[in-house]
Amino acid sequence: MNTLVTGGAGYIGSHTVIELLAAGHDVVVIDNLSNASRAVVPAIESLVGRELPFVECDIRDRDGLDRILASGGFEAVLHFAALKAVGESTAEPLRYHQNNVAGTICLLEAMAAHGVKRFVFSSSASVYGDPADTPIGEDCPVDPRSPYARTKAGVEGILHDVHAADPDWRVSILRYFNAVGAHPSGEIGEDPTGVPNNLLPFVAQVAVGRRERLNVFGDDYPTPDGTGIRDYLHVVDLARGHLSALDYLSATPGVSVHNLGTGRGHSVFEVVRAFEAACGRDIPYRVVSRRPGDVAVSWADPSKARDELRWTAQYDLDRICADLWRWQSTHPHGFRGRKA
Ligand code: NAD
Ligand code: UFG
Repeated sequence: MNTLVTGGAGYIGSHTVIELLAAGHDVVVIDNLSNASRAVVPAIESLVGRELPFVECDIRDRDGLDRILASGGFEAVLHFAALKAVGESTAEPLRYHQNNVAGTICLLEAMAAHGVKRFVFSSSASVYGDPADTPIGEDCPVDPRSPYARTKAGVEGILHDVHAADPDWRVSILRYFNAVGAHPSGEIGEDPTGVPNNLLPFVAQVAVGRRERLNVFGDDYPTPDGTGIRDYLHVVDLARGHLSALDYLSATPGVSVHNLGTGRGHSVFEVVRAFEAACGRDIPYRVVSRRPGDVAVSWADPSKARDELRWTAQYDLDRICADLWRWQSTHPHGFRGRKA
């Protein structure tokens, strides 16, 4: 299939592009490089042994999108481009809605104008808010608690409206749980700018000596060891879920919603122990107060994706930590400093 991948230079997008190219799909990546390095493009090319067309373009640039779509003969768009920091979204809600919602509207308008009507959307488990029960199924009510999560829930609603108005659209909404890990080659991985917001990138930077110690945000949750529990999904498993979604779209009209998670939860302390085993070093930590907005427990019921997409996560937490450590230890400063 001939695909356009927005945000394809970012963390999940770059891993998905590798899987798409390896499976024989054609790919053009667009990214405004607001949270990515151009150096990821040659890294992907050398891993896959294929050329990767890349255009620096913002999804809010309608003229730029028109030029790309007019030249491409695209059959589907995989839409990763978004701002994703929950805390930052609370401080800058308009920037988040402008980028994630207005940007997606601009992209959908451009697609419609060029007759491209297959769309895979990166949504988030954060749309569920703080559900009463786990595991979380797709029928759990949507209750977004941050501006970031509201951008995801808002775009989901827009996609349902677009399909209702024009049933030719085929849309796959994928609600990711916690994307973690790195490509098994060690050549591609997450490269957060500044202080990492998320647990595993922070732990990896402690292990490599870039940070002194981990702050564990609360050990007084109603969980077996008191720390928060999440569903950590290897980024390569997540990437492969997108290929399953594309297959599903080919066979199935309408709008579908699927959780992508493992169906297993791990506490912060379990993650720390698994990473210590992977890197052979101690991870110093201290327990601090809870992070506002965090929920105690979040893990997926992934059975709908298993049954309909024929997708199941393959990699466990130990493999996640081993692959992340390979990337972090060989690229302690990520892509920065590497020339494209
Ligand atoms: P990322 O920041 O690494 O990737 C996003 C990419 O989009 C970046 O390369 C950035 O430069 C680009 N981008 C942002 N705004 C753009 C714009 N206006 N025009 C063009 N490019 C733009 O993030 P990621 O972790 O790879 O996340 C990918 C998608 O998955 C996002 O939509 C995110 O909200 C969603 N998601 C991520 C997680 C996670 O755990 N990482 C969980 C749930 C959902
Ligand atoms: N945590 C720490 N210390 C840290 C960072 C995190 O103790 O330095 C804890 C958190 O309190 C939580 C767990 O580690 O219990 C996981 O936190 P992350 O920040 O790694 O992940 P979140 O579950 O908070 O959120 C992530 C993304 C969201 C996405 C969600 C999907 O940041 O954008 O996963 O489930 F929506």
